[in-house]
Amino acid sequence: MNTYQLNNLPVLLNPPDTHADSEAWWENCVIYQIYPRSFQDSDGDGVGDLPGIIDRLDYLKELGVDALWLSPIYPSPMADFGYDVADYCDVDPLFGSLATFDRLLAEAHGRNLKVILDYVANHTSSEHPWFRESRRSRDNAKRDWYIWRDGRENGEPPNNWVSFFGGSAWTWDSETEQYYLHLFSPQQPDLNWRNPEVAAAMHDVLRFWLDRGVDGFRMDAVTMLIKHAEMPDMPPAEGLLGAELLQKHIYVHNQPEVHDLIRGFRQVLDAYDSRRVLMGETGDLDPRKLVSFYGRQLDEMHLPFNFIPMHMPWQAAVMRQAIASYYAALPHRATPNFVFGNHDISRLATRYGWANHRSVAMLLLTLGGVATLYYGDELGMTDGFVPPEKVQDLMTQDFSGSEHGRDPARTPMQWSAAANSGFTASGSVPWLPLAANYKTVNVAHQAQESASTLKFYQALITLRRGLPALQHGSLAIMADAPENALVYLRQYNEQRLLIVINFADAPFSLDLSQLARRAVLQLSSLFMPVTAVSGSRVVVRAHESLLLELD
Ligand code: NOJ
Ligand code: MG
Repeated sequence: MNTYQLNNLPVLLNPPDTHADSEAWWENCVIYQIYPRSFQDSDGDGVGDLPGIIDRLDYLKELGVDALWLSPIYPSPMADFGYDVADYCDVDPLFGSLATFDRLLAEAHGRNLKVILDYVANHTSSEHPWFRESRRSRDNAKRDWYIWRDGRENGEPPNNWVSFFGGSAWTWDSETEQYYLHLFSPQQPDLNWRNPEVAAAMHDVLRFWLDRGVDGFRMDAVTMLIKHAEMPDMPPAEGLLGAELLQKHIYVHNQPEVHDLIRGFRQVLDAYDSRRVLMGETGDLDPRKLVSFYGRQLDEMHLPFNFIPMHMPWQAAVMRQAIASYYAALPHRATPNFVFGNHDISRLATRYGWANHRSVAMLLLTLGGVATLYYGDELGMTDGFVPPEKVQDLMTQDFSGSEHGRDPARTPMQWSAAANSGFTASGSVPWLPLAANYKTVNVAHQAQESASTLKFYQALITLRRGLPALQHGSLAIMADAPENALVYLRQYNEQRLLIVINFADAPFSLDLSQLARRAVLQLSSLFMPVTAVSGSRVVVRAHESLLLELD
């Protein structure tokens, strides 16, 4: 086994948090994303719902998360399972009612859990009354709420834009003989954010939910709300769908005017109090573009989602670079955040492999700032198998280009080894089949097992709360770590924590005598006995990750 001596040569990525006494609840929080259809069904229709979520709040509290983000719960024809909203100010009967939502909010708040809603502002459903009006005639008062254009002279769509779900982004309306724009499916027409009436109506939507007491919003597709005014043709896409999504749509993403819109949302929130959080989907892999969504004066999003590492292969050098470049771009006093999984991409235990899934958790929960978890990742849930006749998603690929669509990452939460895993009544048919491993990978089982992934997440979240260096500490990557490892130091006042992640399938040992008198093991992803640490020498097993306190 190779031994590496770590010298005191850390590369500082960010200074310690000087506003550690800030009032903002979200600054070091753990957010748990719930895909409502898949979390817990209460009424036996095979689809998860709000009463089901209420029943599981104690589980979430025990897991230790601070906030829930619910994917859309609004009335919807469900072409894109709620990302096609037909009414922004109500709850789909499939999930419950406004009264159920109010109960969920009260029950969550009673446990000091925050609730964040999805805000789907780029497009409505084609069944939304606004669009029904808009398509009625060319001179309808709502015509200009959407993006209508004449075809080209030869009748072709106005430009070459393609939708993220495949095919032209334009659909012909034979009644009024114009095309309308939809960056996603034809059932999701894009709103025209150049029209101030749209902005006013959508601000009222925010106020509707803020008045009810929600704690914030996750803004869907927010970087593309406003398109280039002239809508020029875009360069052809090459390579994977993932690359296309992130790179090709140059006249759609990040137009200068989008920042004014986001500042407008922020002002709506700030008019309430400083306790409502604005986060959003910013898929950019260029850290400078990504961080531009904090706003020049930090007056846009509190948390523009950082998907950079999520789209990278699991290699130490790649992750090191992804983390370093993100921190290098991060504006002073902006809160960092990390996301490794969501409802659009293959589950992390599948993408990175079972051997690494706890190391991903270690990264996510110790890199600083806000961590967003996706339901079931705390068990190491893997992609489910969805046979062709059971496919639900209108996308045939996922956001990383995987050929299986997004259903495999949306299979029901695995609560127990019982029939239907406790997700829905035993005689019911869940809307997507359970993943085959539910008999062994489930909450009931892992809650009993002392070295389970669930226990690992719980322990990590507890340590985050208890160790100031994990909350407010500076972050420095150790430059002389072994090639296949990522080693970083978090430090706050006297407290120094060393995180060691072994990407390789061989062990190594570290000599920390230049750094510390001794290392104290706080947590190992393998829950191995403390004998692995002796004085300042630490043995790190294959694919293991460790959290050590330096003395
Ligand atoms: C991003 C969401 O995460 C995805 O699920 C959805 O299909 C698109 N935006 C369109 O709303
Ligand atoms: Mg139900």
